[in-house]
Amino acid sequence: MPPQTALRALPLADAIERILVDEVTLQKRVQELGAQIAEFYRGQDLLLISVLKGSIVFMADLIRAISIPHEIDFMATSSYGASARTSGVVRILKDLNKSIEGRNVLIVEDIIDSGHTLDYLVRILQERQPASLRIVTLLDKPERREVEIHVDWVGFSIPNDFVVGYGLDYNEIYRNLPYIGKVRFTDDPA
Ligand code: IMP
Ligand code: MG
Repeated sequence: MPPQTALRALPLADAIERILVDEVTLQKRVQELGAQIAEFYRGQDLLLISVLKGSIVFMADLIRAISIPHEIDFMATSSYGASARTSGVVRILKDLNKSIEGRNVLIVEDIIDSGHTLDYLVRILQERQPASLRIVTLLDKPERREVEIHVDWVGFSIPNDFVVGYGLDYNEIYRNLPYIGKVRFTDDPA
C-alpha cells in the first residue's frame, strides 16, 4: 500500500520518478496481444470484460487491435475497506449487463498484484457457466502474488513498484498518462 500522502499538488512531471514502460513500447505490445487474441479466438464467439476503472485505456486500445468480431462489457469491483485488500473480499459495484452463460469470456485487467481481486472475480464468473474464461492483463507483479492465478496473456511483468498511467491511478489521478510510470511519493527525496 502506498502512503496516504496526497500527490494532488504535484505537477505531473514531478510526480513520476521513472518511466517503466514508454508509450511506443506499450502500443507495440498491445498490438501484439490483440493479434494473438484474435488468432486464438478466430471463428469463435468472444466477449471481453473490462474491470473498471483501471483497465479502460488498455481495453480501448486492445479492442482496436483485435480484428475479429467481439462484444464488450464492463464490471466494477472494490475491496471492502482499505485494509481488506489482501482479504480477497470484493464488492461488485457494477455488474455485467448480460448473461455470460455459454460465452467465451476474456477478462481484461490493468494489473495483477496479490491476485485476490481476480481470484474472486474468476470464481463468481465461473459460477455463471461461461463456455470458457480467460485472462489478459497489461501488467503483472509476480513478486506480490498471494494466490495462484492462471493468466493467459501478460503484457509486461514489472517489479514491485507502485505504478500509474495508461488507466492506472494513485488516489484516482494520473490515469491519463500515456505511459506506465513509477510514482514518486512526496516523502521520498526528490
Ligand atoms: P490485487 O487484488 O492485489 O491483485 O489488486 C489488483 C488491483 O489493485 C488492481 O486492479 C489495481 O486496481 C490495484 N493496484 C495494484 N497495484 C497497483 C499499482 O501499482 N498501481 C495502481 N493500482 C494498483
Ligand atoms: Mg483494477
